[in-house]
Amino acid sequence: MPIFTKKVEFFITIEYESIFLQQQFKSFNLLNQKSAYILGIESSCDDTSASVIYNGKVLSNVVANQEVHSKYGGVVPELASRAHQQNIVPVVQQALAQANINKSDLNAVAFTRGPGLMGSLLVGTSFAKSLALGLNIPLIDVNHMQGHILAHFIDEKDAKKPPFPFICLTISGGHTQIVKVSNHFEMEILGETIDDAVGEAFDKSAKILGLQYPGGPLIDKYAAEGNPKAFKFTKPKVGDLDFSFSGLKTGILYFIQKQVKENPNFIEENLVDICASIQYTIVEILMDKLKNTVKQTGIKHIAIAGGVSANSEIRKRLQLAEKHWGWTTYIPKFEYTTDNAAMIAITGYLKYLNNNYSDISITAKARLKVTE
Ligand code: KG4
Ligand code: ZN
Repeated sequence: MPIFTKKVEFFITIEYESIFLQQQFKSFNLLNQKSAYILGIESSCDDTSASVIYNGKVLSNVVANQEVHSKYGGVVPELASRAHQQNIVPVVQQALAQANINKSDLNAVAFTRGPGLMGSLLVGTSFAKSLALGLNIPLIDVNHMQGHILAHFIDEKDAKKPPFPFICLTISGGHTQIVKVSNHFEMEILGETIDDAVGEAFDKSAKILGLQYPGGPLIDKYAAEGNPKAFKFTKPKVGDLDFSFSGLKTGILYFIQKQVKENPNFIEENLVDICASIQYTIVEILMDKLKNTVKQTGIKHIAIAGGVSANSEIRKRLQLAEKHWGWTTYIPKFEYTTDNAAMIAITGYLKYLNNNYSDISITAKARLKVTE
């Protein structure tokens, strides 16, 4: 907080000794300077995260990953919510400490309302409600999918913000969507998966290869050494802007089973080429759909968001699209790709600027569309 602001706040506090007036002052301060410390809390799946944002700039973004799931080959919901319970207090304390503020400095608490695992969402939701109530500051619910997209509005040196309207390809472990973003909170789904999400396609393919969960980053790592044209997998045929990944997964499974029957060491001997070929096929599917979208909408500002946007091949292909097709692309920093609370805090900040607060009776919602 600027020194001047602190001084004035101090005098007002002395004069009236009223928490109510401190709150009034904070709103006055917002109207004039739009200054606000927002705490974001994310607990929708298996990452417990807390972040403090000041006027759109990230002061801290603490993420506690839950290792407990890797041996089960996927997220175990009951274990996830227990781990959130253990992590939430230390993670929030660390986020405040790294931001160098006290909880009394906060202007609002933003939290992920959904979509996600109910047990996991409940931990973040209850914590955020209690904190907002205890501090007597606004509570702001955030749609996790909007958060992934709006992470592009975090103030970062050297990062450009997309102008409206732009297209966002949201690719995560639970979603695959092409979204037209006309304004911060005006979004339209132009296409989406009719079965598995793209992150699942990566993770399930990795499981077939005997790799640990989450397999997406591992496929990416091994693919770097392999030949993407070594094996050919059939691309699905679905509507213009929609996706389907379950057929591809089955195709990969049958291919591997057949090869392993002939040569039990097939996977070990060809791991890097298999990973490169799978990754190439998936990214080809994503790029085909983006090309269709640009053709249909005429919009050439293309952003990517969500965990799979960390993938090196999609990032590379988007950079090439800038050169070859004149697109302007927006690729998030690595720390804002997979689940994180900075994206929740920035969305909370954008809502805060519009006085878009939640009622304390709000509840978590496991299913929530990006447009809700
Ligand atoms: O956004 P996210 O953290 O969680 C959800 O909201 O689902 O996305 C997680 C997904 C996982 O499926 C993970 O395998 C995938 O993102 N992922 C990747 C990479 N990093 C994370 N997939 C491919 N390449 C990567 N480098
Ligand atoms: Zn996510």
